[in-house]
Amino acid sequence: MKFFLDSADIGEIRDLAATGLVDGVTTNPSLIAKSGGTFIDMVKEICAIVPGPVSAEVTALDHETMLAEGRKLARIADNVAVKVPLTPDGLKTCKALSSEGVPVNVTLCFSPAQAILAAKAGASYISPFVGRLDDIGADGMALIADIVQIYSAYETITTEVLVASIRHPMHVVEAAKMGADVVTMPPAILRQMFNHPLTEKGLAAFLADWSKTGQSIL
Ligand code: G3P
Repeated sequence: MKFFLDSADIGEIRDLAATGLVDGVTTNPSLIAKSGGTFIDMVKEICAIVPGPVSAEVTALDHETMLAEGRKLARIADNVAVKVPLTPDGLKTCKALSSEGVPVNVTLCFSPAQAILAAKAGASYISPFVGRLDDIGADGMALIADIVQIYSAYETITTEVLVASIRHPMHVVEAAKMGADVVTMPPAILRQMFNHPLTEKGLAAFLADWSKTGQSIL
């Protein structure tokens, strides 16, 4: 399973990428606005930090402008994935960019039917938003199970399931159990995944006993 950071916080991305556990990054217009940075410059900087794909989202609504935006974003670096919304124009743009060899991440997916359309349009990634479904009382992880099942039934589908809108580490665990290809999570969630009180307690006990020996390894 690949780990992407869902963030435009360069400091956090740099810090967590240093763990070697981060495969890529996803951004969206809200995250860029929150960072206060210049979009193109930020994408370029993030692309230099992580080895894998960095999703950069178009903001136009019509196909022609989306396509022009997508081509411009794809030229920023070799590891840019263009993000388009799951609309008719978005999928038309997905089809065009994919046929040009540009990886496309189709975002704002909330149903299995939408995920089928994205695969048909040649998307490299489909981004179902689990947290936002949970927020309205629906079952976000059930959507992941459906999409994984559907995509697995067709050898010709190469679209990767990129679980997005992650709210807590159990979303990551459940996605892994279902065999999802990628999870994109806020930096805080990746940090939470390290934590367990028994790890901290056990480490403290080991170190206390070790100090009694008076030894050092180096
Ligand atoms: O970047 C797409 C998605 O992960 C957004 O998540 O937390 O805004 O629902 P959220």
